[in-house]
Amino acid sequence: MLLHLLLTLLPIFSSTMSSIQADAPSSFVLIGDSTTAVDGGWGDGFCGTPAIASVLKTGTPCNNTARSGATTGSFVADGSWNISIDAIKRETAKGRKTYVTLQFGHNDQKIAPPESMGANLTVMVQEVRGLGAVPILVTSLTRRNFHSDGSIDDILGPWADETILISQQQRTHLLDLHAVSIKYCEAIGPEASHRLNLSPSDNTHLNIDGAIVFARMVADLMNSSFRGILPIVPDPELSRNISLGLPSF
Ligand SMILES: *[C@@H]1O[C@H](CO)[C@@H](O)[C@H](O)[C@H]1NC(C)=O
Ligand SMILES: *[C@@H]1O[C@H](CO)[C@@H](O)[C@H](O)[C@H]1NC(C)=O
Ligand SMILES: *[C@@H]1O[C@H](CO)[C@@H](O)[C@H](O)[C@H]1NC(C)=O
Ligand SMILES: *[C@@H]1O[C@H](CO)[C@@H](O)[C@H](O)[C@H]1NC(C)=O
Ligand SMILES: *[C@@H]1O[C@H](CO)[C@@H](O)[C@H](O)[C@H]1NC(C)=O
Repeated sequence: MLLHLLLTLLPIFSSTMSSIQADAPSSFVLIGDSTTAVDGGWGDGFCGTPAIASVLKTGTPCNNTARSGATTGSFVADGSWNISIDAIKRETAKGRKTYVTLQFGHNDQKIAPPESMGANLTVMVQEVRGLGAVPILVTSLTRRNFHSDGSIDDILGPWADETILISQQQRTHLLDLHAVSIKYCEAIGPEASHRLNLSPSDNTHLNIDGAIVFARMVADLMNSSFRGILPIVPDPELSRNISLGLPSF
């Protein structure tokens, strides 16, 4: 009788277990400049919008708090950092493991040497950790300006290097989006790269196709940095195109 009861209840227990697992214990908060932000950054492809599927499993909270025009300094000074902190606190308070991407450089580059951004990133990393969340440093998405020989005309390198240095000093995860996006854009060439532009002459910001491609690139880098433990929905065909340097659009 007891055995019968246990056998009857077993499927109920196991379905409860699987619904707990499906209840995404992880969440994501994105921080950075316009190359991450809503309407022009990879964050739209990462968190998803009504027009773009998220790279994350359904129900995984993802809050894109990146801001157009931001430097590490302006982000704090204009209150954006406090908004990000509120978003992180809300997630950790629910017991979720909260992953926080930090990607700056495009605007920091215009106002100060790399070390200034680095010092600010260091404080950000420490504050994110202080909230019980996991900081992930991301190097700048490349601009899609080309030399006539087909190589990318890159001026963000020192800011990418500074981000890498801070990730080593602070022992954070690092996604080298700068290096991988340069490699990919050089492989697909100027014409296919520019099809990902928000407007034809805007080699910095992304249209929907660009957001899809570069969000997948970020997701692939995360998947490999975290050895497959994150709730990312695979897209083997797009990942394959990215790794082989083939245009998807
Ligand atoms: C870093 O933050 C300081 C304020 O703490 C600010 O003066 C400086 O401009 C910031 N650097 C950048 C590159 O935004
Ligand atoms: C951010 O929050 C801190 C702590 O509450 C506060 O001291 C600071 O003035 C806030 N920054 C801005 C720009 O509102
Ligand atoms: C993101 O966090 C901010 C700050 O707490 C909040 O106002 C906003 O509603 C959040 N958005 C999403 C999509 O969760
Ligand atoms: C993550 O990487 C592992 C190992 O390479 C792979 O098997 C898996 O399909 C990847 N997952 C995603 C979501 O890309
Ligand atoms: C992958 O690339 C091929 C050739 O460039 C393209 O036809 C296909 O649609 C791409 N697949 C995805 C999922 O982007």
